[in-house]
Amino acid sequence: MKSIADIRKDFPILHTQVNGKALVYLDNAATSQKPIQVIDALSNYYKTLNSNIHRSAHSLAAQATEAYEATRDIVQTFINAKYREEINFVRGTTEAINLVAYSWGRTNIQEGDEIIISALEHHSNLVPWQILAKEQKAKLLIIPINEKGELDQHMYQKQLSSKTKLVAVNHTSNSLGTINPIKEMIQQAHLFGAKVLIDGAQACPHGPVDVQDLDADFFCFSGHKTYAPTGIGVLYGKRELMEQMPPFHYGGEMIKEVDYDMVTFNDLPYKFEAGTPNIADTIALGTALNYMKEIGYETIKTQENALLQYATEKMSGIDELRIIGNAAQKAPVISFLLGTAHPYDVGVLLDKMGIAIRTGHHCCQPLMKSLGIQGTCRASFAFYNTLEEVDVLVEGLLRTKKML
Ligand code: ALA
Repeated sequence: MKSIADIRKDFPILHTQVNGKALVYLDNAATSQKPIQVIDALSNYYKTLNSNIHRSAHSLAAQATEAYEATRDIVQTFINAKYREEINFVRGTTEAINLVAYSWGRTNIQEGDEIIISALEHHSNLVPWQILAKEQKAKLLIIPINEKGELDQHMYQKQLSSKTKLVAVNHTSNSLGTINPIKEMIQQAHLFGAKVLIDGAQACPHGPVDVQDLDADFFCFSGHKTYAPTGIGVLYGKRELMEQMPPFHYGGEMIKEVDYDMVTFNDLPYKFEAGTPNIADTIALGTALNYMKEIGYETIKTQENALLQYATEKMSGIDELRIIGNAAQKAPVISFLLGTAHPYDVGVLLDKMGIAIRTGHHCCQPLMKSLGIQGTCRASFAFYNTLEEVDVLVEGLLRTKKML
């Protein structure tokens, strides 16, 4: 088993300086850093394998196709999908949700239907449904949160009805860190015949999920938060649903036969992968998921829980620091306010000390509005962070407090 110190050696950026100070990277919920194995996979692809997939007879093309398709198997295992063709490569969670909204949504949501989302959604799991609801004259219902930042399950049960066609919620909130009881929520939605889409962008960086056990109809996540490059993500959809859905994009590779007045579409998963895909980043996604597996999901969980616990305790001890979101089940994400200071000012001062956090509304404007705030500061941890880095953050916050 690799120690955290050894794991850190795999991440070149963690050994750089920002503003003359050792980088303390605590913005992992925005994007995670990449291990050398992933960086190498990316550059090796262009050095040794670059060619287009699924098309040509030459050896390089065959090898590139094999490497690309190998990631589909890795992802299938990571989320325990029943069939490999249920794994569709997209640019990221945002594109996955838009795909479902355009393809499934526009053929299945009718006037008078209801779509349930939650108050904790990122704009990417809100705006596509809001636009769809307006277009189709459907209704968008929002599950409220309690004072801890947990979804109000009682209200959710009251909102569900035979009118509910879709429930779209995140597994884990990006802004407050709340982990939602999605298995139970999916079961309840299914009792009314509704389909469920889970935004897993903030869950997958912390370990695998089991879409069969959850019985999710759609599940998506982004590569760049799971230690892979940007521009690659995954949409899982149950085979019977994806088979019935019309394509999202039209073009090369997603067809079976074309003439000037007709077209038939390819089988899954190619029906949803029009054009030359993001081959290099897909291959590197496979490397990143293998890297997580090699480190060990238990190691990841243990280190991240220790960081969350330690940081919560230390930060709670800072006078006038208010943690926003105290759910019983939380990912290693701490949203907070420091007195009356504007989050942006806190972020800028911490940055001068080499500490990277995110500030703002975290793409959750309606949530911030309902909390009566403009935004928060957010420290988000990954398994390569250390308790010493938490100390640096706490020290930085104490210094910031004196300056503001
Ligand atoms: N969704 C990402 C975040 O929460 C960008 O920061």
